[in-house]
This record gives sequence, C-alpha cells and structure tokens, in this order.
Amino acid sequence: MATRLAVYPETSSQARRPPRSVRLSITDRCDLACLYCRAQGGERHVQDRLDLAAWRTVIQGLLKAGIRRVRITGGEPLLHRDLVRLVGEIAASGAEDLALTTNGTRLCDLAPALREAGLRRLNVSLDTLDPQRFAALTRGGRLDRVLQGIDRAVTVGFDEIKLNTVVLRGTNDDEVERITRFAWDRGLVPRFLELMPVGEGAKFRDRLVSGQEVRERLAQLLTTEPARGEENRGPAVYVRGRHDPKQRVGFITGATHAFCKACDRLRVTCDGAIHPCLAMPTGLSIGKAARSGDVIGVVTSVRKAWEQRPDGETWRGCSEDIAQQVSLRHVGG
Ligand code: GTP
Ligand code: 5AD
Repeated sequence: MATRLAVYPETSSQARRPPRSVRLSITDRCDLACLYCRAQGGERHVQDRLDLAAWRTVIQGLLKAGIRRVRITGGEPLLHRDLVRLVGEIAASGAEDLALTTNGTRLCDLAPALREAGLRRLNVSLDTLDPQRFAALTRGGRLDRVLQGIDRAVTVGFDEIKLNTVVLRGTNDDEVERITRFAWDRGLVPRFLELMPVGEGAKFRDRLVSGQEVRERLAQLLTTEPARGEENRGPAVYVRGRHDPKQRVGFITGATHAFCKACDRLRVTCDGAIHPCLAMPTGLSIGKAARSGDVIGVVTSVRKAWEQRPDGETWRGCSEDIAQQVSLRHVGG
C-alpha cells in the first residue's frame, strides 16, 4: 500500500541537464508576512534593484544562453510597478512559457491586464480557507481579497491556474480535502507543498506534514496510480481524481526529496544575482552587466552559475544546513 501511494517517483537517474528555465524574483517586497517565509520585525530590503532596462538585458542574456521558460516570482511580483510591461516584453521575446507565482492580493485589479499582456499560467498561494487562520498565518492578510482575486483570474481565463498550499500540522492540515474541493469546483489544480527547511521555514520543521501523509488523507478522492511529474515544469507530481480523471492534485515534496537531478532552473534576484540553486544563499552578480546592457556578460555568468550547481548527491540542496540562510522572500521560491 505504502509503495502504491508513494508521492515522488524514485527514478531520478536523469542525466545532468542544461539550464532551460528561470525564476525571476522581480521584487523582495511582499504585502503579506507569512510566518514560515518572513522573519519577525526589522527586515532589510534590497536597495539596488534592477530597473526595467536592466531586466531587458537580463532576459536577452538568459534567452541567448538557452533559457526557454520564464516564471516571475517575488516577494510579491504584483507589487512591481513595471510588471505588466515586463510581462508584455517577455511574452514578445520568444520564451516558450511565461508563468507567475503570486499571493493573489492584487489579482482582482491586475489579472485582466496580465492576461492581455501575454501571461499564460498562474500559481496562487492559498494556505487556508479560514479568514482568521489566514490573518494569523500571513500576519494580517485578508482572505477575501485573495478569493476575489482568484475568482477574477478564473473569469479572465488563463491557460492554467494552480493553488499552492503549504501544509502545516496543527494549522491547516485539516483543510486539505476542503481546499481540494474548492479548487476542483473552480477548475483549478490544488497542490500541497511540504514545508521546506529553507530560511524561516527551518523554524517550523516540527510542523512538517509529508506529501505522503496528505496523499493518504485524500485517498478517497484520488486514484492509486503512481504520481507523475509534468514535462518541462517544476518539481510537482500529480495524482488524478478517482471520480473524474480530468481533476488532479499536485504534491511538492521539497522536505522529503531532493529535486536536483532533474532540475533545469536558475533564479535571478531583484538585485541581479543568479542563484543556481534555491538552497544557495548567495548568487553570482550580473548587476553590472545588466545595468550596462552587456548581454554577452549575462550569458557568460549564466554558464558560470550553472557550473556551481549542486549534483544532488554530495550536496542535497534544501536539506543542507546552509539553506537556512536563504531568504525565500528574496530568492522567490
Ligand atoms: P510549475 O510546475 O511550472 O507550475 O511551477 P512551480 O511549481 O515550479 O512554481 P511555484 O512558484 O508555484 O513553486 C511551487 C513550489 O515549488 C515553491 O515552494 C518552490 O520553492 C518550489 N520549487 C520550485 N523549484 C524548486 C526546486 O528546484 N527545488 C525545490 N526544493 N523547490 C522548488
Ligand atoms: N517551504 C515550502 N514552500 C514555501 N513557500 C514559501 N516558503 C516555503 C517553504 N519554506 C511557498 C509559498 C509559495 C511558493 C512560491 O513557495 O507559499 O506558494
């Protein structure tokens, strides 16, 4: 039984890949302060952010270096004043995929313009459907705004909308079925994330609920087929609905599995650092090249950064102690 319900397929002998996807963390600012993401009080924000012209150079360099898929993250990317323009420019640049991860608070206003500008796919973080819990978990956030934002995004009609729920024992682990039904009723894909011991997340290790356990809790709703990943996507694996094979539930098991071998992702932060791995607190600076329009300089740095990527065997990414020094708000997940 346990084997049949295994969440992550143990077939990780893929060859080392070249980088093909990037996550652009365009701001380290966020209007929520989730307990597992943001440290209490006195936090510093980046001062020397890339401007739109510098981002253009970064994007040209990334595409020239072979990157094909772009996801915009943050902080909260919808706080960035040039977001819609940036989306329009990336959409017109020849990238094969353009997606964005958001906390949803500003979707109600921005979803139509983002779609119009060429955004294809959207992931929205939603840890609870209970307003009080939401306020406590986000340190003051309003659930109703996020739910309105999700409704607006559904009306606008993106190619795909997924929900991300980080499951925490004693906080929202009793909601996994409710969230699944909420998502399915709206044509969205619910995904349950293990809390990674990265940054502030490391302080909540004792609240980890494994993807395996969530799958077992949802057993009545799901088939017993092996979970499957998606081609050219992130580390999530999916199981189909028992009564409707078009419905799916996703699992991201960042605490119990390392995704290094299949990983083809780079990250760029808002101050112009390339991180070859989510678990690496420091990156290679491309700020100077980006600000001076030096596309080839960016290409060279992409190659150098990729050489520093961990192999997943001697260095196992997010489970390494150094990952506790990473700011997810800065690197963007
Ligand atoms: P799609 O599969 O394209 O929908 O996107 P995604 O799941 O990669 O994007 P999203 O921003 O929604 O990320 C969901 C979770 O996956 C976040 O917690 C990310 O930190 C995590 N994630 C993405 N890439 C990696 C990775 O390379 N390693 C680890 N450990 N976690 C990752
Ligand atoms: N572990 C797992 N997921 C996390 N996220 C933020 N911090 C963590 C963590 N420590 C999630 C957010 C968002 C996505 C980009 O990453 O909730 O959905």
